[in-house]
Amino acid sequence: MSKQMIKKDFPLTNEELRLQETLFHTANGYIGVRGNFEEGYPMDYISSRGQYINGVYDVAEMKQAEQLYGFPNKKEVILNVADTQSVHLYLDGEEVTAFSQGVREMCRVLDMEKGTASRQFIWKNEQGKEVTVSYRRMTSFVLLPLFTIEIKITSHDFEGTLSIVSEHHGTAHNFVNPDDPRMAAETEDYLSVAETIYEEEQAVSKITAVTKTSNLAVQTLVFHEASPQLELGAVEESESISVVYDGQIKSGETASIIKYSLFIDSRRYELEKAGADLLAKVREKTLMEWYRVQEEYLQKFWQRAELSVGGDPLLNESLNYSLYSLIQSAGKDGISNIAAKGLSGEGYEGHYFWDTEIYMMPFFTLTYPEIASKLIEFRYMILDKARENARTLGHKQGALFPWRTISGTESSGYYPSGTAQYHINSDIAYSIIQYYHATGDIDCLLNYGGEILIETSRLWLDVGHYEGTRFVLNCMTGPDEYTCVVNNNYYTNQSVQYQLRWLVKLYPLLKEKNALFIEQLGVTDEEMTAYQAAADAMYLPYSDELQIHAQDDSFLEKPILPIEELPKEKFPLLLHYHPLYLYRHQVCKQADLVLAYFLHDQAFDEEALKRGYAYYEKRTTHDSSLSSCIFSIVANQIGEVEKAYHYFDESSKIDITNSHHNTQDGIHAANMGGTYLGLVFGFAGLRIREDFLELTPRLPEKWSNCHFSVMYQGSLLHITIDKERICLSLEEGAAVDVTVYGQQGIVSSENEWEIPYRKEQ
Ligand code: BGC
Repeated sequence: MSKQMIKKDFPLTNEELRLQETLFHTANGYIGVRGNFEEGYPMDYISSRGQYINGVYDVAEMKQAEQLYGFPNKKEVILNVADTQSVHLYLDGEEVTAFSQGVREMCRVLDMEKGTASRQFIWKNEQGKEVTVSYRRMTSFVLLPLFTIEIKITSHDFEGTLSIVSEHHGTAHNFVNPDDPRMAAETEDYLSVAETIYEEEQAVSKITAVTKTSNLAVQTLVFHEASPQLELGAVEESESISVVYDGQIKSGETASIIKYSLFIDSRRYELEKAGADLLAKVREKTLMEWYRVQEEYLQKFWQRAELSVGGDPLLNESLNYSLYSLIQSAGKDGISNIAAKGLSGEGYEGHYFWDTEIYMMPFFTLTYPEIASKLIEFRYMILDKARENARTLGHKQGALFPWRTISGTESSGYYPSGTAQYHINSDIAYSIIQYYHATGDIDCLLNYGGEILIETSRLWLDVGHYEGTRFVLNCMTGPDEYTCVVNNNYYTNQSVQYQLRWLVKLYPLLKEKNALFIEQLGVTDEEMTAYQAAADAMYLPYSDELQIHAQDDSFLEKPILPIEELPKEKFPLLLHYHPLYLYRHQVCKQADLVLAYFLHDQAFDEEALKRGYAYYEKRTTHDSSLSSCIFSIVANQIGEVEKAYHYFDESSKIDITNSHHNTQDGIHAANMGGTYLGLVFGFAGLRIREDFLELTPRLPEKWSNCHFSVMYQGSLLHITIDKERICLSLEEGAAVDVTVYGQQGIVSSENEWEIPYRKEQ
């Protein structure tokens, strides 16, 4: 089955256009370029023209109405860097654009196996003569700084002059929407051009721009390859550089131009040297060869990440799109992470959240563990800033990771639903523990993960205290951002308990392996005893009256907000109600306790889970895209497969149907990971246990089967579930212990395992 997303719905409204800019973006975890039209747009169109480098940021003022102690007054923001997308075509002096009169057969294709995005249309001039214009873009997974645009003009019956003007701008503006708290409210000139050079000998334009405050530099290098009819003409150089190619085109002929852009930044590269080296490297291969290695990279990716269901083509398209978006978004170098919008737009200002660890890491842990380990390395890189952050918040020991950040500095302005979300610490810990179980990668624990576990645990002991025999955690916010600064958020307390228990369990191994940080940080056996005691005494709120777990100490005492009676246009509630109004009611933005049901499934019995699910489902708006996927997984846990399907269907199509009406600002990357979770952890019921993998498969009515692969402890397993049987086979690596519906088995290269599908569970 080919993995393509095709759109033919033209002419475009402005809203559709911005949506497509996001959906057809091309990225590789280092750079991301929105799918803007090379030729630009009519004057009355608003487009978010954008190109980003992961981890390249500037620092903006964040004015607090009242500057209380410890409130951040600066924030990191992703930068819209150099624009190398612009190329204008003229035939006999008339500009060729997608919006010209008589344009037909417009089509866009995102090819997720080839790793390219293309656009094509037929254009007609005033005399009725036609040409086909096609554009193909690639951001290379093999040479991360490389972005290419290939343009072909094929004449049907046009004869005359062709002139191509290709522009290179060293700076661009960030997008602003003061009415939406999820976007930047103010704009600034973050970048300014420091140097513009056109090197004639190599026909390369080079622009270096520097940031205003963060002291970073971005260099872009651009060169072209044109077909024989075209000759390099004028070069204009000022703040920007534009080059012109002129020639003649005859009926039946094709003329083409390839624009190569290299993006490099001073966080990773020594600019001058790297620029020259990279230019030489790009020129070692033809564009066709760069396309070929791109395809090879993706072949390997899909071999590991393949995920499909039988009986739902639109769903398969969105599944592929989700996984492709994840590989496009993930920083793979240990100094960058995964922004909430990937590299597809400026929503949430390019910040990294807990979204990575809870929603996206499992996909990488189970398919590309080498990327997952880099994401852990990133958290290690910012550990010192997390230590500083903890001091700012008054903690004598430990580290508190920032809720929103790019390079480690806390960048959330509104602390009740920002900094107060201390659970980010235990989320990071959870992902490290799960990563270790899935990979057995002890080096990652020794070098990065172990120290993070210690420092985040120390924070928990500092912030928590004993109330009688109970260990309690007060004044923090759980995942649900409509219920803020509460005592004993269940999700947080349970996640902390999990983290502390696992640290105590892993400690002897870390000691035996002489983990350096044990001595450096002065970790003692007594400290472990304190963790064990806090974990055992952890308070987990429960209502005897309702026989359900309580989201926190006060949630169940508040009046219920009847969300089913509110008009549709009042959602998302955050755009229409004062936060205090929401905080005073029982209303949830997203899965909170229900997320604990999933992540800590072994801690709950089925009946408690069913009652709790029914209760919190009625109070949840799913205003956050991080919600429906979790409700789907837990619906599966309680055996409500059709309900699980309903939530899954909704969450898996959020971006391709723009159901949250803000995909134009960027993809919902966490939800992309959530789609993976929904299928693999939901319908297949996979859980990563310490020494084995567990599966509890259930398929909804509509699907005939589902198939996926996972890496576990270095072995690659293929899993196919249909309504007759579950088949497990091993493609590479040592034998793996698996349980299916609680029945133990071993899958090895000699021993595929097949067991009957259970219809009723
Ligand atoms: C959600 C957070 C999430 C953030 C970024 C918010 O709407 O409530 O849980 O981390 O979006 O995706």
